[in-house]
Amino acid sequence: MEELFNSSKLLKHWPSILLGLLLALTFKYIKEYRRKRSKNVKLAGEEDIAVDFPLEDPDALQPALEEKPHVPFVQGENLNPDGARRFYELARGRRSVRAFNAERKPPINIIEDCIRAAGTAPSGAHTEPWTFCVVQQLAVKQAVRQLVEQEEHINYSTRMHAQWVTDLRPLQTNAIKPYLSDAPYLILIFKQTYGTTAQGRKKLHYYHEISTSIACGVLLCALQAAGLSSLVTTPLNCGPALRRLLERPANEKLLILLAVGYAAEDCKVPDLQRKCLQDIMVKY
Ligand SMILES: Cc1cc2nc3c(=O)[nH]c(=O)nc-3n(C[C@H](O)[C@H](O)[C@H](O)COP(=O)(O)O)c2cc1C
Repeated sequence: MEELFNSSKLLKHWPSILLGLLLALTFKYIKEYRRKRSKNVKLAGEEDIAVDFPLEDPDALQPALEEKPHVPFVQGENLNPDGARRFYELARGRRSVRAFNAERKPPINIIEDCIRAAGTAPSGAHTEPWTFCVVQQLAVKQAVRQLVEQEEHINYSTRMHAQWVTDLRPLQTNAIKPYLSDAPYLILIFKQTYGTTAQGRKKLHYYHEISTSIACGVLLCALQAAGLSSLVTTPLNCGPALRRLLERPANEKLLILLAVGYAAEDCKVPDLQRKCLQDIMVKY
């Protein structure tokens, strides 16, 4: 009897129950939609894009760049005729140099122009996520050298595995780095893992490592074009200490430590061959 009474009560109120259910489902859907839009979803294998960025109100989002009408494209200068061939001739002359002329210092304006060139590199969503720290003072170069050599002794003896150390043998590198104090310039290139908008909000930097690496490539070519030599280094386990030494903020991570200058008169380089075009290019 009681069961019958309850089921008739249920039947009587079914429109309100259904409405309540519908409302609850809609509310849940909106909440989920907002959560998905506002929280970063970590994409598998995409280590180089910004994550962990809580947004308060997805509907109030503004782009980091100003939204303006596009302007007509202007073709930049080129090296024609034979621009590509001439550039190849230039690029193939670049070698990593580990002995610098400490007495001959290139003028700073050349370094500035090279970094200007690097700053023209493309970057994810035009975030320009790079900082180029140019060190010229001997005391700072010596401090860099001391820090790097200290870690490199540990790297070579314990951190790097035997195959790695063996593979480096033909390059004749070791834990002693005179070029870090001899080279007239050290350029420490930091990738900015995130930035700050003009309004002081946290700005996402997409593909900061790829973008900064491309900028470094442009920098290497510009240095070569200026007749300067360089050495790309990635000192293992030194990033945080070098960042602190140069008083760079926590959003910056060291990507490359570049030694720059004129090669020493008696400079020698490993006898290396480059892969030929057929080995690096596949036509479809
Ligand atoms: C990502 C990267 C990291 C490197 N790290 C070092 C390094 O820590 N120390 C070093 O002496 N050379 C380093 N090099 C230089 C390479 O050994 C050099 O580019 C390679 O042997 C080819 O020689 P080349 O630059 O003369 O063509 C590095 C190069 C790259 C691209």
